[in-house]
Amino acid sequence: MSILALNGLRIDYATAIGTVSAVDRGTFVVPRSEIVGLVGESGCGKTTLARAITGVMARNAHVIDGEIIFDGRDLVAATPAERRDVLWRQIAFVPQSAMNALDPVYRVSTQIREVLIDRGRYRRANVPARIDALFRMVGLDPGRQHDYPHQFSGGMRQRVSIALALALNPKLLIADEPVTALDVIVQRQVLDTLRDLQKRLAISILLVTHDISVVAYVCNRVVVMYAGQVVEQGPVAEVLEQPFHPYTMGLTNAFPDLARARDQLVPIPGSPPDLRNPPPGCRFAPRCPFAIDRCRAEDPQLIDVGNGHQASCWRSDAVVEMRSKAKEAATWSPSSL
Ligand SMILES: Nc1ncnc2c1ncn2[C@@H]1O[C@H](COP(=O)(O)OP(=O)(O)O)[C@@H](O)[C@H]1O
Ligand code: SF4
Ligand SMILES: [Mg+2]
Repeated sequence: MSILALNGLRIDYATAIGTVSAVDRGTFVVPRSEIVGLVGESGCGKTTLARAITGVMARNAHVIDGEIIFDGRDLVAATPAERRDVLWRQIAFVPQSAMNALDPVYRVSTQIREVLIDRGRYRRANVPARIDALFRMVGLDPGRQHDYPHQFSGGMRQRVSIALALALNPKLLIADEPVTALDVIVQRQVLDTLRDLQKRLAISILLVTHDISVVAYVCNRVVVMYAGQVVEQGPVAEVLEQPFHPYTMGLTNAFPDLARARDQLVPIPGSPPDLRNPPPGCRFAPRCPFAIDRCRAEDPQLIDVGNGHQASCWRSDAVVEMRSKAKEAATWSPSSL
């Protein structure tokens, strides 16, 4: 059984100018002891999904439908008290900016101690040893634990946030864009630490990122989102080398380190739809070089394509031809749409 399975999750935001359908098909699994990447362009609903799993959502966010099965029980149906009990002790969250996880006016040791005592009911006498161990675990010198957040570099602050999240031995760690603000060398170091922690602690990690090269570097599985919907998921090598969805094909062209060098990147033309009024049919159709009439009328569902790999595209019978054309820059020129 997977540690986490989302089935048909739908999440809306109520706003003064209409309902934003931020997540419309949140369907994916996080197997135990794996690192799963949740990837997609900015605004596609990644943070909304991640926060729904933690239960800490914006006030105007509403789960409309679907299930969040964590370790065998549905968190959507859980009481607020049950949700609070799961957060930190079983599911820990590293929010999008490390500064969001840390209070600038308190020493880091004070913040970790609060979590250990208030949430984890640690005895005071055991706290210093635990903080030392957490600092070492994430590659930080325990001698720095009494510093304030601003005294750390960006990469070190991210490590502090990870240490804080791991304080109570969670089963699932959700990290939202943990390396986005860091330079490439520090990114690799933090990702290496996450991979090492996953192995040593046998935890599961959901790594949220807009950067598919981060997924390729560190994840076992990938979930690709487009405009609020999961459009493809499966083992990383399988999905990146043999994608079934044209959006995934486009994404792999648009990032360095994968198929191309930085100067050969091919962007996907156009921009994602307004989630207050998404297009009918396949949401990617307005930007898809392979769209046919059916795509603009009917919404394709996620279907199994083998080896634990799923995708939602009407044209999966033409996948070999689409993969080959997707490698040509001309296919993605705005004039081809
Ligand atoms: N509190 C909110 N109220 C209204 N709309 C929101 C709110 N938070 C996010 N959104 C909208 O929901 C969509 C998904 O946002 P988000 O989950 O932050 O995406 P991502 O993390 O992939 O960038 C976007 O269109 C965003 O503008
Ligand atoms: S369903 Fe159609 S528009 Fe959507 S990704 Fe597949 S080919 Fe493109
Ligand atoms: Mg986000």
